[in-house]
Amino acid sequence: MIVYSPINLPNLEVNWDKFWDVWHTYSKPLVKVRNMGHSGVPVGPVDAWIGIDIFRRQFYMPGYFAPLVDLSTLPELVQSVENIKKALPTIECIRIIQSTEDIFSHTDDNLDEWKIRKMFHYTSETSQWYFTKPEDRLGNRHYISLPETTSWFAYNDKHAWHGSDYDDKHPKLLVQLFFQEKLSTDLIADLLEESFKEHKDYVIEF
Ligand SMILES: [Fe+2]
Repeated sequence: MIVYSPINLPNLEVNWDKFWDVWHTYSKPLVKVRNMGHSGVPVGPVDAWIGIDIFRRQFYMPGYFAPLVDLSTLPELVQSVENIKKALPTIECIRIIQSTEDIFSHTDDNLDEWKIRKMFHYTSETSQWYFTKPEDRLGNRHYISLPETTSWFAYNDKHAWHGSDYDDKHPKLLVQLFFQEKLSTDLIADLLEESFKEHKDYVIEF
């Protein structure tokens, strides 16, 4: 089955000078949160990621907390967020993260669901993000590639485990999308089907 494919979603437009101001001002180590119903108790910061939220619905309770930032200096990004919300109406949170160390192959939730990510800022010539077969964390790494036309991608969180290499000369910024419940495959079936076809040279199958 296909476990990874680039997908077609609206781009996130930014003025990079202004974006870096926001990023350097607000990005913080993610803080693990214990869910207490409608509130969360911070458990402690984690070393592996720093990040910001550029959209979060009220009462959405993520597993990790990131500061929700003011985008008033980034009107293109505000419009881009609206475009994503239109394309994926059940979205609860849009987060930008940077890993600060190697992340070994793992599954996030071990659920048979598609996760959507985007390479937001990426300067390396070599691929840093890879998949292994489930529970085969030391096995063959299948590094991803992306077409010119999109840097959004989707992967199945149960049937492929993901990891990424850290390069301090080329740290990458990744966008994560979160949904309240498991992202229903039905909801994105057309998007996946169309993207699998269009990006067939890039898909990874296990
Ligand atoms: Fe992960």
